[in-house]
Amino acid sequence: MVELRENEQKTLLALQRLNGRTSVDNILQESGLAHAAVMRAALTLAEKKLVKVHEQRQKVVELNEEGKQHAQQGLPERRIANALIELGGKAAVEKVVQKAQLDQKFVPIALGWLHRKGWASLEAKHILKTEKKSVPLRADEKLLSLLGNKGAVALRELDKDLQDAVALLKGRKLIEVAEKTARELGLTNTGWQLVNKGLELVSEVSQLSPELITSRKWREIKLRKFDVTAAGPEVYPAKFHPLQQVIQRAREIFLEMGFTEIRGPLVETAFWNFDALFQPQDHPAREMMDTFYLANPKTGGLPKKSVVDAVAKTHEDGWITGSKGWRYKWSPDEAKRLVMRTHTTAETIKYLSKHKKPPIKVFSVDRVYRNEQVTYIHTAEFHQIEGIVVGKGVTLRDLMGTLKTFYARFGLKKVRFWPCYFPYTEPSAEATVYVPKLKRWIELCGMGIFRPEVLAPMGIKYPVLAWGGGLERLAMLELGVDDIRLLYGNRLGWIRRTPLCQ
Ligand code: PHE
Repeated sequence: MVELRENEQKTLLALQRLNGRTSVDNILQESGLAHAAVMRAALTLAEKKLVKVHEQRQKVVELNEEGKQHAQQGLPERRIANALIELGGKAAVEKVVQKAQLDQKFVPIALGWLHRKGWASLEAKHILKTEKKSVPLRADEKLLSLLGNKGAVALRELDKDLQDAVALLKGRKLIEVAEKTARELGLTNTGWQLVNKGLELVSEVSQLSPELITSRKWREIKLRKFDVTAAGPEVYPAKFHPLQQVIQRAREIFLEMGFTEIRGPLVETAFWNFDALFQPQDHPAREMMDTFYLANPKTGGLPKKSVVDAVAKTHEDGWITGSKGWRYKWSPDEAKRLVMRTHTTAETIKYLSKHKKPPIKVFSVDRVYRNEQVTYIHTAEFHQIEGIVVGKGVTLRDLMGTLKTFYARFGLKKVRFWPCYFPYTEPSAEATVYVPKLKRWIELCGMGIFRPEVLAPMGIKYPVLAWGGGLERLAMLELGVDDIRLLYGNRLGWIRRTPLCQ
């Protein structure tokens, strides 16, 4: 004896009533079941060899957006013709259009078809005229309303007239004809044998209630069996963007390491972005091709005079730092220019101008901008991970240790440091990490100890360890992405597929 569920029985009975073979749509109507329920039943019935699923490619006619609109409101020529007749058979075009409440863009189309269908004619000075008291419904309008009701119809189910109308409405760009897979279900011999014996529909209870238990009815009812191994429907609950998740993680690691977050504006003066960091005003990084300068407003304010003067002097001749400086005439106008910050070191130095006493441990994970050609590895906006430690007697070793700890928490255990150059640090280094998955070392961040030329104008008397590096590289490793543009592309599919927890 085959064990069947209620929906499977209903599907079989519907098929029996419809002579053993018919489209899924017809079964829906006959059985009153939902589409998903019939499809699920069909799958099980096919496994039990009671039903065969026939798939067929067929042409399906559907309304497009404009077609839907006309299906609801009537074709433009129909609306004009009706309005004209109501106005007594003769009236100015504008008046008829107004009465028909027809959108201006449909007026030329309406006039063309009124003429072609012989429903009305245009007399001099835009007067529309008709002798008719009513205009007949033609195949095009019949098809339109059929599609309006049914949504979509198989081409081969239409009679000759309506098929001609398909060509017509397709020409008017109101419908589309697409190839689709149509499914029909058919009873097999075994299926027929079963339904001929007579299926007795036993309704199933899908939920056991306290009532059923206390009344002891549970003994009599048929409980629906669940397939606990069947895959559930996919759900996409709201979640943070994968890149935001990595940002969040970087934040948490810093917080756990005892750092405090600082944030600043995306737009900064060149003073904080460059000058305060002892980058000379003719430094190549400041040029248009690397930096986005604001067109409006062009300039911002400088901090208090004593700080500006000290920065100016340091650039010009080294001021009290023992340095020779860059030896040029420093310009406050250049320093006032507004830029999209090119690094978060701008926020670090701004913070130091107001907080001078150790211990200081602050970080930021924030967005920066560079005038880069967008490629799989570069975007014009990205995020930096930045931090400083200020303390009596802190050294390069502490800096290396801090970064090692940070990256280790990201799962990157092997970190190496190489000497390199930044205008604002001495010594300077870059950190590279070994990525087992890629089997190679990649560069992750720049670091160093701020130079006296940076610290003196801010009045800082203690060593400052500083570092800053890209976040997207980390994110790409974390997320297994090899094109950075994916992170910024609003690709819903990728965002959905990326799990909340790895
Ligand atoms: N600001 C540097 C960059 O954008 C990184 C850096 C920060 C280097 C702090 C040294 C100290 O690449």
